[in-house]
Amino acid sequence: LKVKLGPRPLVYPIPIVIGGANVHGKPNWVLLGDTGLMGVNPPLIYISLHRDHYTTIGVLENRTFSVNIPHTGMLADADYCGTVSGAKVDKSGLFQAFYGDTGTAPMAEECPVNLECRVVHDFSIQHRHIFVGEVVQAYAGEQYVEERDGKKGLIDMTRLDPILYSLDNQYYSAGKRIGEGYREAGKRKSTA
Ligand SMILES: Cc1cc2nc3c(=O)[nH]c(=O)nc-3n(C[C@H](O)[C@H](O)[C@H](O)COP(=O)(O)O)c2cc1C
Repeated sequence: LKVKLGPRPLVYPIPIVIGGANVHGKPNWVLLGDTGLMGVNPPLIYISLHRDHYTTIGVLENRTFSVNIPHTGMLADADYCGTVSGAKVDKSGLFQAFYGDTGTAPMAEECPVNLECRVVHDFSIQHRHIFVGEVVQAYAGEQYVEERDGKKGLIDMTRLDPILYSLDNQYYSAGKRIGEGYREAGKRKSTA
């Protein structure tokens, strides 16, 4: 029997990320749960920002932003940038900013992985502003990279140690690896 929980967007787990944007020439950091992958080729992601957030001013100003994926050791700082606004508190020094080719999307050195994005589409819906970003470059700290079949890739996700979130308002760490994409279907017992 199913219990109705009401019209809640219960998609989980949610990867928690730190959005970065320059606002009036200075880095600002914001915690985001409403973000996701839109496609691998071309590499598109989206972020959903409240129209009144300080960060929104910067993304509209530069048409660039970054998505930075923290590890669990950064939880308190991550949560902090989700609880105070750059309009009131200067959050620029919370992380060490570095820049890529766009020159205007600040990325957090402390995060294992950083995605530098250029806005290719945006629209507002109710009080949200949705930005679709094309990833112009992905960066990873060298300790998080290994070579496989002559290609540089990320190490096992459990070692990247990302922060997950759910709409029970709790943060989680990642569980164990249980299989490989496109390779598990062959192990089905059913013939249906
Ligand atoms: C767990 C968590 C997830 C959040 N996700 C989002 C989000 O996806 N979009 C958003 O606009 N705000 C989100 N927020 C709220 C902003 O991070 C917060 O209001 C922040 O202070 C805005 O900062 P700014 O005004 O400097 O941009 C989230 C906050 C928390 C704690």
